[in-house]
Parts: sequence; C-alpha cells; structure tokens
Amino acid sequence: MVDDPELERLYDYPPDLDRAWVQANFVASMDGAVAVDGRSAGLSSPGDRRILALGRDLADVVLVGWGTARAEHYRGVKETEVRAARRARLGLRPLPPIAVVTARGSVEPDSHLVRDTVVPPIVITTELAPAARRSALTVAGADVIVAGETEVDLGIALGELSRRGLRRVNCEGGPTLLGSLVEADLVDQMCLTVSPVLAGGDAGRAAVGPRAAPRAMALASVLADDGFLMLRYRRAG
Ligand SMILES: NC(=O)c1ccc[n+]([C@@H]2O[C@H](COP(=O)([O-])OP(=O)(O)OC[C@H]3O[C@@H](n4cnc5c(N)ncnc54)[C@H](OP(=O)(O)O)[C@@H]3O)[C@@H](O)[C@H]2O)c1
Repeated sequence: MVDDPELERLYDYPPDLDRAWVQANFVASMDGAVAVDGRSAGLSSPGDRRILALGRDLADVVLVGWGTARAEHYRGVKETEVRAARRARLGLRPLPPIAVVTARGSVEPDSHLVRDTVVPPIVITTELAPAARRSALTVAGADVIVAGETEVDLGIALGELSRRGLRRVNCEGGPTLLGSLVEADLVDQMCLTVSPVLAGGDAGRAAVGPRAAPRAMALASVLADDGFLMLRYRRAG
C-alpha cells in the first residue's frame, strides 16, 4: 500500500465541483458476494478499512441506503484526530453527515443514527413516509428531504445535497441504492475492494435493481495489500 499523502491524492475528489459527484465504495469476495452472514465485515481488511475511512475523511456527506444503515448499525461519523486534521487542512466542515435513503421513512427518531451523532443526519425519503414520522424526525434534529412520491428520485436528492454545499458524496451502499444510482447513471467513481475469499452462499452482488444500460468505467488506480485488490474506476470519458 502507499502512504497517506499518496492515498489522499489518489482518492481525492475533482476540484471546484458544481454538482454532487458520487463515489461508491464496495468490498466483494472473488466470487462476487458483498456480505457474509449479512454483514460486509467478514470480507474486509485493515487496508480496505483504511480506504473506507479515507472516503469519509474526504467527503462532504456519506450516502447510505436504509438496509445497510440497519444491518451495519450506523451512527454518526466519529471525530478522530486524523480526520479532524485532514478535514481542516482540506477546508472541509469538521464532520460529514450521514444521509440515509429510505422511501418509507424507516429511520426511527430515537435510533443511534439520529441520537448518536455530532452533526444532524439527513433522511432522504418520499411522500410515502408517514407525515408523523417525518415531523418526528425533524423534531429529533434530522434534516428531512422529500424527493419523490413513492420512490426516491436520486437526481432530486443529489440536487438537494448540492444545494446544501454537500457535493463530495461518498456512497457506502448497499446494493439496492447502488442499483438505483447505476440505473440513473449517477455513479462517477466506483471503489471496489476484491477480497481474497471464495464466499459461495446466496449473498447478492454490489448493485441490484431494474435492468440498466451497462456503463463503461475507466480504471483509475490499482492497489494491492495483503492479498486484497483495491480498484478505483472512474466514469469513462
Ligand atoms: N460489501 C459491501 O461493501 C457492502 C456495502 C453496503 C451494504 N452491504 C450489505 O448489503 C446488505 C443490505 O442490502 P440492501 O440492498 O438492503 O441495502 P440498501 O440499498 O442499503 O437498503 C435498501 C433499503 O434502502 C432504501 N433504499 C435504497 N435505495 C433506495 C432508493 N433508490 N429509493 C428509495 N429507497 C431506497 C429502502 O428502504 P425503505 O424500505 O425503508 O424504503 C430499501 O429497502 C447488507 O447485508 C449489507 O451488509 C455490503
């Protein structure tokens, strides 16, 4: 693996963004599984976690689907010395909020996501979410964005994030959310760690959902660490 400055140079966002720019992060086994026993931890490594942490350090906002936030017990991004120093040096706000995508408004107002956080979380939802849930989330301190009637329109959602100055978007999954982003052609960079594991089983792949036109991506960097491959692909052209 390379040192921190080089890693930061490789994974930094393009300068002077005038729209939300989406990076997606995934770890998968050699045979394409994205979870072992329902979680991604069994596929990860210290090198992969370093890249995941860097993704948070460099982002304005961490975008995640409700299924992942629930399975991985999400709470607010924690402040660490490295994170605080890096973000101050890069001129970023001290911490990125977590933005959870949930068409049905599944986030509970007293969950760790809403309570255990330094910065207010963002809940991206639809009119399908009961009005009482939406207002309870607002009262609990969340920033609620309604982007669509029954399905989250991710173009509108990213526009709302951009309007808030949150353009460096680090998507941590899961497969349903990534499938929607791919369908809408909203993925600018995909960071994929290939884990040296044959997982078998019935775990799904990184993106699921309606059929989408295949999107060509261009290889931007390859790192190897302890048998793991860290691949970074950018939107071609
Ligand atoms: N290997 C990895 O790197 C990695 C990364 C992330 C997750 N995972 C694994 O993936 C699994 C979870 O998969 P998942 O597909 O359930 O995850 P997900 O995409 O995080 O969550 C799906 C849920 O999020 C909401 N959602 C997602 N996309 C939406 C969209 N476009 N519009 C509206 N709502 C949307 C919906 O919630 P509502 O039903 O509330 O509307 C939906 O039920 C877990 O096992 C997790 O560990 C692996």
